[in-house]
Amino acid sequence: MSKVTIQAPANIAFIKYWGRLDHKLFLPLNNNISMTLSSCTTTTTAELINGPSNMVEVKFLGKEYTQLTSDSINARNIFDQITRIKTLAKLDRSVHVKSENNFPADAGIASSASGFAALTGVLLLVYGLHALYEDKKEFSRQVRLCGSGSAVRSVYGGFVEMFAGHDHESSYANQVADEHHWDLVDIVAIVNADKKKISSSEGHELAETSPLLTARIEHTKKQFPIVRDAIVNKDFQTLGEALELESTSMHAVMMTQNPPAFYWGPGSISIMNQIRELREQKGILAYTTFDAGANAHVICQKKDAATIEHLMQKNPFVKSTIYNEPAPGAHEVSNHLF
Ligand code: PMV
Repeated sequence: MSKVTIQAPANIAFIKYWGRLDHKLFLPLNNNISMTLSSCTTTTTAELINGPSNMVEVKFLGKEYTQLTSDSINARNIFDQITRIKTLAKLDRSVHVKSENNFPADAGIASSASGFAALTGVLLLVYGLHALYEDKKEFSRQVRLCGSGSAVRSVYGGFVEMFAGHDHESSYANQVADEHHWDLVDIVAIVNADKKKISSSEGHELAETSPLLTARIEHTKKQFPIVRDAIVNKDFQTLGEALELESTSMHAVMMTQNPPAFYWGPGSISIMNQIRELREQKGILAYTTFDAGANAHVICQKKDAATIEHLMQKNPFVKSTIYNEPAPGAHEVSNHLF
């Protein structure tokens, strides 16, 4: 059996998902919508091998390859996904998986999104489930079962919605507009590339302990069509105002969970203030959003990207920036990692 390699992008959600309706099927509590990112990708190669054990090697930016063992908590979802797809394919063969990220992991840049989308893609192909891979809706459902909701959206390029649904069939991703639709930019400002203390998997389970969760979910139901229409109609101010409020609403839930999760740091606050001042003083439209991490995603129009990057580089909290445009979704590439 030959090798297969998939490259999958991370994405940044404009309406985010925090909290689950079902922890086994990984159904989110609310519909969510994102833009895929051109410079934050995971590349994963897989090949079926002889022998009783799977071999999984992963490498994050600036680190060496490490071989994961199936008993480590971090690797559990990966090995479970291998077992699931192997069972689905009715093919009792082990697999060698090698994967590398070109951006810092676990720092609020959705490394699980690109990682699990790439993993599921190579597994479907290497185990011969081509029809499930080609049918993107089905591919996205298979990705969801990995345990990462954001990964579901990385199946497609451009602007992508994920339906919360109420069961396995009804919860999947759909492309709203492709990567050529709108020249938006996401400048990721890295203020802290360390591993976050509370993973999003743990966070989703704690969300229901926040007294603010119900109000937030009701709010996302109102905001989702506003954000979707703003993307379709390329209405940047409406999108920006909604995405900034949405990020703060999710972080309010995070901070009021039990135990609380404070992902923002001084650098995050400094960037939020800087971007608000830029709007107020210079009339330049840019907006901030944060996933489960301290690093800021500054969303702007391409014409303003150089100004924003320059501003970020002058901020003493910012260690580096990553420039992203809307990108294609998970796709096969010919350069294998082994
Ligand atoms: O992809 P997960 O299941 O690890 O959850 C991601 C949650 C956020 O990134 C915080 C929000 C989102 O919708 O991307």
